[in-house]
Amino acid sequence: MQHVLFVCLGNICRSPMAEAIFNDLLEQHQLTGQFAVASVATSSEEEGNHPHPGALKAMRAHGLDASQHRSRPITAEDFDWADTIITMDHANVANLQRMAPNRVDAAKVKLCLDIIPGREGDPIDDPWYTHKFELTYQELATALPAWLDELK
Ligand code: 4NP
Repeated sequence: MQHVLFVCLGNICRSPMAEAIFNDLLEQHQLTGQFAVASVATSSEEEGNHPHPGALKAMRAHGLDASQHRSRPITAEDFDWADTIITMDHANVANLQRMAPNRVDAAKVKLCLDIIPGREGDPIDDPWYTHKFELTYQELATALPAWLDELK
């Protein structure tokens, strides 16, 4: 069983969207038994909160429901649990590498768009600031099938 952890700053926009999209891909490919997926925040700012209405709306537009999700900050157990930690921007990477309990855990941290040729090093910008939730969906929907291919 592969454990995939999606992480962003607040865990109310990008990472819960990624979790729902990745879970949907697993269902489409009949791989639900081979992966466990979760998402968490680098901050505790939004702890206990449901996804942003803009994120829920973008997900609904694509037939996905992330409404049951609640934000929570990453723990040392999450670093240990995860095989791969997929993050959205450079601040996420820097924060997680600082927070990682050890070097093995720090090495699990990946930038989401690095999997797409030509987009290496690009962030998935925070729709909490940009309000471009559909763009966030499209970037995740492009990158996550490539991550599934890489990890399966
Ligand atoms: P996310 O967006 O990291 O994609 O979930 C954000 C949500 C909340 C905050 C920042 C980013 N915040 O500062 O509360």
